[in-house]
Amino acid sequence: MANYQTILVDNKDGVTTITLNRPEKRNAMSPQLHRDMYDCLTDLRYDKDTRVIIITGAGESFCAGQDLKQYFIEMDSQPERVRDEVREKSRQWRNEILRKMPQPVIAKINGWVFGGGFTVVTGCDIAIAADDVQLGLSEVNFGHFPGGEVTIVLSENLQPKHALYYALTGKTMSAKEAERIGLITKAVPRADLDKEVMEIANNLKEKAPSALNAVKEAWYYTFYSNPDVAYEISGLISDKAKAAIGGRPGLQQFARKEYRPGLGSYKVEEKK
Ligand code: COA
Repeated sequence: MANYQTILVDNKDGVTTITLNRPEKRNAMSPQLHRDMYDCLTDLRYDKDTRVIIITGAGESFCAGQDLKQYFIEMDSQPERVRDEVREKSRQWRNEILRKMPQPVIAKINGWVFGGGFTVVTGCDIAIAADDVQLGLSEVNFGHFPGGEVTIVLSENLQPKHALYYALTGKTMSAKEAERIGLITKAVPRADLDKEVMEIANNLKEKAPSALNAVKEAWYYTFYSNPDVAYEISGLISDKAKAAIGGRPGLQQFARKEYRPGLGSYKVEEKK
């Protein structure tokens, strides 16, 4: 694994944890952090030892959004080529690459989430937060609005009366409130955060990687399609998943009464 300046990457037993590692800046996303995340995710998609990815933050923050100095003030005076490169990588890793990763990605929300940090949360497939975490769309507080992809992604994820309330007032919300409005999967007591996330990661590790990839592809690729196109896409994903797994081994094990699909995964043969 390459050495990165702003993130830590650790693999243990098939679970790769990426830690946003600028705690002194509350893990605000600098141009270098966008480059590091872009490169890291691009590598991990081909890493057979990565079955599940967890994204978390170092210190007391998950992600304080874009680095207000480096991403905005300093970028304004950069050449257009650099601005385009950074903005494109910033957009792609959060709003495109995370969704297209074959592995499931879990946000382990250990602390603050502000502004652009929301799109790290929405980019992940599952998001678990410690219950004392606060999240906020603070842009209006500094005279901006949730720009770039933030408004676009929020309108996919939230009801207007929830998203507009927080975008207009700039007030923070609790993790419980984020759970209630569907921004995150679940808020858990802080003491249980690691255990809860590892329990989910271990569950996912038991599943066939091609089935997990198919779940993501079906979800994200059919989202904007009309129903008949979505149905065709679903059929193609199904054929691909079946080819990747060599038929229907899970159903054959069921037919042999080797397990109960309602209660857990079939025994997946490792295919390297
Ligand atoms: N961009 C750049 N720097 C940031 C930052 C951001 N988004 N968020 C925090 N920092 C920096 C501070 O400038 C400070 O740096 P310094 O020590 O060099 O002065 C350091 O991180 C610590 O910040 P501080 O405000 O002292 O920490 P805190 O724990 O008291 O408060 C926050 C934490 C997250 C509530 C507060 O830093 C904050 O409001 N940050 C801005 C969040 C935001 O609006 N983000 C939206 C961006 S799109």
